[in-house]
Amino acid sequence: MAEKIQIAFTINGKEHQGEVDPRMLLVDYIRQEIGLTGTHVGCEHGVCGACTIMLNGQSVRSCIMLAVQADGQRVETVESLASSEDELHPLQQAFWEAHGLQCGFCTPGFLMTLKPYLEANPNPSEEEIREALSGNICRCTGYQHIVDAVQIAAKKMQASP
Ligand code: FES
Ligand code: FES
Repeated sequence: MAEKIQIAFTINGKEHQGEVDPRMLLVDYIRQEIGLTGTHVGCEHGVCGACTIMLNGQSVRSCIMLAVQADGQRVETVESLASSEDELHPLQQAFWEAHGLQCGFCTPGFLMTLKPYLEANPNPSEEEIREALSGNICRCTGYQHIVDAVQIAAKKMQASP
């Protein structure tokens, strides 16, 4: 059995240290070792977007990264979005208002794709939104309500950056 490797990184603003099998995926480490299960596992080969997190402010797929690659980095998961249990992030609020989800399995990945996207592109067209979301698969909604949610979220995020 491979020797475990020490890793340390920040996750949702908190320092984390642990030991990990060198072959363990980052998504599995986040869910199983840290216990943050908001990040979902879908295809496990970089296609569906369900496992999307932010690494140093950029959206990445945590199913095609090893946990050891997070060493020394800044990781944010969907659990970082809401500032409290009573206050949703504007993106989450917009998804709720526009019915941008049904089963919700894909939603964490959409949110973590959209957060840095809308911060960099505060006023996207519908076509640009669809392009930005083209790497995230939703089996339930048909996407229109998600696009509507992004348009609402863009306005909310501009109003309260
Ligand atoms: S589970 Fe990572 S992209 Fe599908
Ligand atoms: S809401 Fe069910 S997969 Fe998107």
